[in-house]
Amino acid sequence: MSNKEANTAPVEPYNDTVVRQFTVMTVVWGIVGMAVGVLIAAQLIWPQLGFELPWLSYGRLRPLHTNAVIFAFGGSALFATSYYVVQRTCHVRLFSDRLAAFTFWGWQAVIVLAAISLPLGWTSGKEYAELEWPIDILIALVWVAYLIVFFGTLAKRRVKHIYVANWFFGAFIVATAVLHIVNSAEIPVTLFKSYSAYAGTVDAMVQWWYGHNAVGFFLTAGFLGMMYYFVPKQAGRPVYSYRLSIVHFWALISVYMWAGPHHLHYTTLPDWAQTLGMVFSLILLAPSWGGMINGIMTLSGAWHKLRTDPILKFLIVSLSFYGMSTFEGPMMSIKTVNALSHYTDWTIGHVHSGALGWVSMTTVGSLYVLIPRLYGQTQMWSTRLIDWHFWITTIGIVLYITAMWVAGIMQGLMWRATDADGTLTYTFVEALNATYPYYVVRFLGGVLVLSGMFMLAWNYRKTVLAGRKVAVTPPLEQAQPA
Ligand code: HEM
Ligand code: HEM
Repeated sequence: MSNKEANTAPVEPYNDTVVRQFTVMTVVWGIVGMAVGVLIAAQLIWPQLGFELPWLSYGRLRPLHTNAVIFAFGGSALFATSYYVVQRTCHVRLFSDRLAAFTFWGWQAVIVLAAISLPLGWTSGKEYAELEWPIDILIALVWVAYLIVFFGTLAKRRVKHIYVANWFFGAFIVATAVLHIVNSAEIPVTLFKSYSAYAGTVDAMVQWWYGHNAVGFFLTAGFLGMMYYFVPKQAGRPVYSYRLSIVHFWALISVYMWAGPHHLHYTTLPDWAQTLGMVFSLILLAPSWGGMINGIMTLSGAWHKLRTDPILKFLIVSLSFYGMSTFEGPMMSIKTVNALSHYTDWTIGHVHSGALGWVSMTTVGSLYVLIPRLYGQTQMWSTRLIDWHFWITTIGIVLYITAMWVAGIMQGLMWRATDADGTLTYTFVEALNATYPYYVVRFLGGVLVLSGMFMLAWNYRKTVLAGRKVAVTPPLEQAQPA
């Protein structure tokens, strides 16, 4: 393109380039992260799948899975949708195209570095914050740039009102910055090794203050932002109650911060702190369900659309999983219940009813709304394929989580069973043997969910191609009779 052409080329009113980039990578990382999930699920059945190679060992691939699905898949989806939503609801272009591009390339660099360093065994050993200190610094830089782009865009908005989705996105961005910086305080000893700046019980508490709020702000608040924009958009209805959404926001962000100690029941953490965590977790049920009800009730007057619109099915079923996991979480935080569930696969079932049922279904539903709009189309290439995706993923998730619930409760009961003379009824290996069939069911569920992601990728590709075809067809030719 000549300079003259470049100067006269129309500028998009919104920066959708960065949105498209993050959207493509959401699908790519979704497939990669879930494929690693399926692989580790298979390794728990057939340990020989590690091939005795250290970088294929379960202990190294597990954090690769969690980082890939949470930060690469979930993170890219949050960048894409927050950039899209903040521009539409503020009626302005992003604050800075350059900084936005930096967040894209910087975030992808973080992910690639994670994909290299975790299989090599370089880890800080902190769950969900395993990456070593040089990568932590890069994350902090990218996040500050994200903060500037997002809040800069809000600051130059052309409408007075700040739509509620932006409140949730904003809280997610600020909280993640604080959590990451505090939890990652560490003392580097070499380029690839550091030790936490905290020690003992304090370290554990900081870790779970971070871990729980990563759930609360990264895996919940950000996705609620998505929900508050894409559910009304797809339903063609306003949010059920705007007042409830504001109460939901303030209640959620003020309660989440205190619930972290429920991860440390029966540990050296002072008893009062454990009880505090439990009580705040129980309170958390109220705002969580307020949000769920607000989302689902947005369909009032449009329930019939659920019959024919598989995208709405994705979004509404995801909200039901949100309600389910935020009911289960408070129950598991009750100390006596946690005495049974902790260390068992029940926790894994809970995690995936939130992570797969809520996080990934909201993401996929939102992407199906977003993708056609990003490529000049009115809808995805195939609605039937979306319907297939919906059913295959729902069946997969239900298989996954029910298998883990049954396995988890069985394990908990087998571990605590004693004979009349006080000796343990079962050895650990007996409990493990009894778990195998459930691991097979979980593996099959994972394969179904992963297959659904390939359907999304295919539908995405065809939608982009259809968009290109329309773009290159001269209008005159279209008007000519066949
Ligand atoms: C095809 C889909 C998936 C499969 C087959 C899968 C499989 C697994 C497996 C086998 C584990 C290890 C469980 C254990 O150590 O006992 C795991 C852990 C985990 N997965 Fe997934 N996963 C999938 C999708 C996801 C998604 C989409 C997310 C998040 C958005 C996610 C988040 C996590 C987390 C946070 C853990 C760690 C749980 C804990 O430490 O308690 N997974 N997953
Ligand atoms: C009201 C909301 C929630 C509460 C009170 C809650 C509570 C809990 C409790 C008590 C545990 C078990 C801790 C343990 O025994 O170690 C747990 C684990 C977990 N939850 Fe939730 N949960 C909630 C919602 C969610 C949601 C929506 C997600 C995902 C999107 C989620 C993701 C996780 C993860 C990843 C873990 C495992 C952490 C680990 O040990 O690695 N939770 N949650």
